Amino acid sequence: MAPAAARSRLLLLYLAVAATAGVLQARAQPDSIGFISIDCGLPGTASYVDDTTKLAYVPDAAFVDTGSNQNISAEYITPTLAKRYHNVRSFPDGVRNCYTLRSIVAGLKYLLRATFKYGNYDKLGRPPIFDLYIGVNFWTMVNITDADSPVPLEAIVLVPDDFVQVCLVNTGSGTPFISGLDLRPLKTTLYPQVNATQGLVLYNRLNFGPTNSTAIIRYPDDPHDRVWIPWVNTAIWNSVSTTLRVEDLEDGDIFEVPTKVMQTAITPRNVSQNIEFSWDPDPQPKDPTPGYVANMHFSELQRLPANAGRQFYINLNGKPWYPKAYKPIYLISDAIYNHNPARGFPHYNISINSTANSTLPPMINAVEVFSVISTTNVGTDSQDVSAITAIRAKYGVKKNWMGDPCVPKTLAWDGLACSYAISSPPRITSVNLSFSGLDGDISSSFANLKAVQYMDLSHNNLAGSVPDSLSQLSSLTFLDLTGNKLSGSIPSGLLKRIQDGSLNLRYGDNPNLCTNGNSCQTTKRKTKLAIYIAVPVVLVVVTVSVVVLLLCFCRRKKQGSTSNSVKPQNETPMSHAPAGGGSYPQSTLQLENRRFTYKELEMITNNFQRVLGRGGFGYVYDGFLEDGTQVAVKLRSDSSNQGVKEFLAEAQTLTRIHHKNLVSMIGYCKDGDYMALVYEYMSEGTLQEHISGNGRNTGFLSWRQRLKIALESAQGLEYLHKGCNPPLIHRDVKAANILLNAKLEAKIADFGLTKAYHDNDTHVSTNTLVGTLGYVDPEYHTTMQPTTKSDVYSFGVVLLELVTGRPAILRDPEPTTIIQWARQRLARGNIEGVADPRMRGDHDVNSVWKAADIALKCTAQSSAQRPTMADVVAQLQECLELEEARAGGGGDANGGYDYTGSSSDPYSGYNAHAADGHSTDDVSQTSTGFEVEHHFGRVPTMPTGPAAR
Ligand SMILES: *[C@@H]1O[C@H](CO)[C@@H](O)[C@H](O)[C@H]1NC(C)=O
Ligand SMILES: *[C@@H]1O[C@H](CO)[C@@H](O)[C@H](O)[C@H]1NC(C)=O
Ligand SMILES: *[C@@H]1O[C@H](CO)[C@@H](O)[C@H](O)[C@H]1NC(C)=O
Ligand SMILES: *[C@@H]1O[C@H](CO)[C@@H](O)[C@H](O)[C@H]1NC(C)=O
Ligand SMILES: *[C@@H]1O[C@H](CO)[C@@H](O)[C@H](O)[C@H]1NC(C)=O
Repeated sequence: MAPAAARSRLLLLYLAVAATAGVLQARAQPDSIGFISIDCGLPGTASYVDDTTKLAYVPDAAFVDTGSNQNISAEYITPTLAKRYHNVRSFPDGVRNCYTLRSIVAGLKYLLRATFKYGNYDKLGRPPIFDLYIGVNFWTMVNITDADSPVPLEAIVLVPDDFVQVCLVNTGSGTPFISGLDLRPLKTTLYPQVNATQGLVLYNRLNFGPTNSTAIIRYPDDPHDRVWIPWVNTAIWNSVSTTLRVEDLEDGDIFEVPTKVMQTAITPRNVSQNIEFSWDPDPQPKDPTPGYVANMHFSELQRLPANAGRQFYINLNGKPWYPKAYKPIYLISDAIYNHNPARGFPHYNISINSTANSTLPPMINAVEVFSVISTTNVGTDSQDVSAITAIRAKYGVKKNWMGDPCVPKTLAWDGLACSYAISSPPRITSVNLSFSGLDGDISSSFANLKAVQYMDLSHNNLAGSVPDSLSQLSSLTFLDLTGNKLSGSIPSGLLKRIQDGSLNLRYGDNPNLCTNGNSCQTTKRKTKLAIYIAVPVVLVVVTVSVVVLLLCFCRRKKQGSTSNSVKPQNETPMSHAPAGGGSYPQSTLQLENRRFTYKELEMITNNFQRVLGRGGFGYVYDGFLEDGTQVAVKLRSDSSNQGVKEFLAEAQTLTRIHHKNLVSMIGYCKDGDYMALVYEYMSEGTLQEHISGNGRNTGFLSWRQRLKIALESAQGLEYLHKGCNPPLIHRDVKAANILLNAKLEAKIADFGLTKAYHDNDTHVSTNTLVGTLGYVDPEYHTTMQPTTKSDVYSFGVVLLELVTGRPAILRDPEPTTIIQWARQRLARGNIEGVADPRMRGDHDVNSVWKAADIALKCTAQSSAQRPTMADVVAQLQECLELEEARAGGGGDANGGYDYTGSSSDPYSGYNAHAADGHSTDDVSQTSTGFEVEHHFGRVPTMPTGPAAR
């Protein structure tokens, strides 16, 4: 606990622009067979060869530039565990983080496989739930349910561009992570169900009756590296196999199932038994009734005598699925599949039964079941994407620049605005990169943002000449190049645009820029950069020795219980003449608290043994009074001259303020040169520690706890402003000055800068600006006259910290105030991007919105527009009621999702069983509404004709 935070002079430094080293990503290429195999989280640059597939796996650094490498816990590493599961990349920051796989062939179909093994890598023992996207289209929810089992997820999609992104989206239920990512090219003729608007997500892929019941078949047996899971059950099924090759059709199979998979099959023991398998739909947040397609692979493996026959029907949920009896062909690979997805059934059951005159039971070699996903979302215009991506790479822009620049709107890149038309891809219309630390020349890529109307590159370090190509941007109406180091002259094309009034160009503060022909700009206007280095915190520049009489009276409120155990002693009034000649009005005011001697303090603190915190005065120590009451002792250090005035001011103030939300003083010590204040003990430390998760307080606060803390702090301030006459201004409200006790009750601390506020009292205004960077009211900053609204402003910053879990000044990557950061996001309606992800979405959204709104009102530029603390208290009370109504109403463990998901391990979702039943030729012609295709196309019964081949 540190009632006084570290104090040091404010350093008014200009933003030192960190030279962003132009880390160029190695253009990671697919290997010679077009595969990309990534071991996510693998450190270093060396690739290695996977034991089973003999494929080379590469580290992921070239595919992603966010997240961090983590190792899974040792207890989850077994000798047979594939190396790519040993580590993960996790993404604690940002809502969306993406891998970009480049240099692929636009318009081709690709198999994408992402794998996840949690392995308690974060030691939280809490596997996350998050969403996976392919580019701008939802792929699937990832629900890791146990730490040990790897979860492989596979999709087959048609990729429209020469790159594809795989994005992990934080949905507030834990930090997304990934173990591995594979990309495998497929011919466009494969998987006819996949087209530009529809993709497939694997539910299960089984190889029936393999001779080795544990051998997974994949690359190189499957040239497309699909993973075929062995399925055998010799107790019920006969396995059939051949060593002869199973051939594809001359003109190729549309599934190209490997011969090794087709060489084995299962059949029931006798002809009257059916083959049945079934699955339950797996609802997704974006698709509560997903559609399914099944691809069943058949080949007769036995040369049948003339008098024998194998013929069967295929039914879905008891209705014929394939309209005729089907007869597998000897050693030829064939497939039965549906083109239109089956949808809306509570349960899917496929049964295969023999026809009446079949002498042999049915059989099946392999099956694949997929759900379908829509891939209709269109990403930003690809030319805009490559231009802005090149700009991001050139300047090392970080911000939230991940995934698609404009889609979805909620995750659009900061600083960009886009236009969204119905019939064409979104375009980038506005680029604001002011104050973004851009170095080097103006990228030629800016001229490739063909739809841009507004471009602000002001206040960077851009050097070199202004490219004339910018004049070719016909929609550009505003271009701001102010405050750079540009040189040369304004090119003629741009001058022409200025003259004809189609462009508003600003170029001030470029000392070397010649504005017309040869007359160089010489005026050097001073630019004040609004961003300071976010280092030393408190600014106290006290050189004035004028001391203001603190004549104030505060309403006496009920004290908290902790300090009541000590009786005030009032022996000697505190007296001290501060250095510098000023006199302190101690004569008129007496401290009504207990006075301690230094010796007593030594006893109380057990010789100053345990330090709770450190402030500008010196250290704060843990102590126990005679009656066992735990206290905090703030001892002024000998070396600190500067603290005397604040020390005394605080002691004075504390004697007259009494409120349950203001930390209370138990006593003081003025013994020779020793000075100390003794406070009630606040076991949970500062709010700042809780928000940052630093120090002892690594747990996180729930939204309700945060609201309670906000409300209580606000009540403390309201008391200072309203309950005291004249009002007291705290002048240093910040998260580090809000202390929490064991019950997490909040109390405002550190009254060293507190002063009385007299409306017409202009003489109290000194040249001393006090407060903490990031919390200081900009109006106070200009007028040097603090008001109660200065506290309101600072409180608004604290409230934003509570909402977002971020510090008052954050790196984004440039230092940005939390106010600016939150305003930008909230303006886009992105509350989830603002709310602290550690709350895991467990909060009433309206309550968070309202709190964020209060915070923004508190931090209005003009003090007149800010509410009073009394307004704030009332509003926060409503927030708390909203949240408590939600929590009272049963809560929602799903974190606000309004769907019920049933997750499935994709490799265990099937139940295959032999069902006894008598075959019959009595084929019901009732249509099930499914269009089933047979890829031979010999069966002229499909409404839409044979499948593409
Ligand atoms: C893709 O396939 C689905 C299902 O058969 C169909 O509805 C859709 O129109 C197809 N899209 C294109 C672009 O062909
Ligand atoms: C079966 O496959 C497993 C895994 O590939 C392998 O370790 C084992 O040696 C195989 N057994 C036989 C009998 O081939
Ligand atoms: C019986 O099977 C043969 C082929 O094995 C087939 O040609 C014939 O049409 C079947 N008869 C009936 C009634 O299905
Ligand atoms: C995640 O899976 C678990 C276990 O199957 C299930 O209880 C839970 O409801 C799932 N969560 C979501 C959000 O679907
Ligand atoms: C076999 O399939 C046919 C066609 O769908 C059906 O009419 C018959 O009832 C099924 N027989 C058994 C025993 O399931």
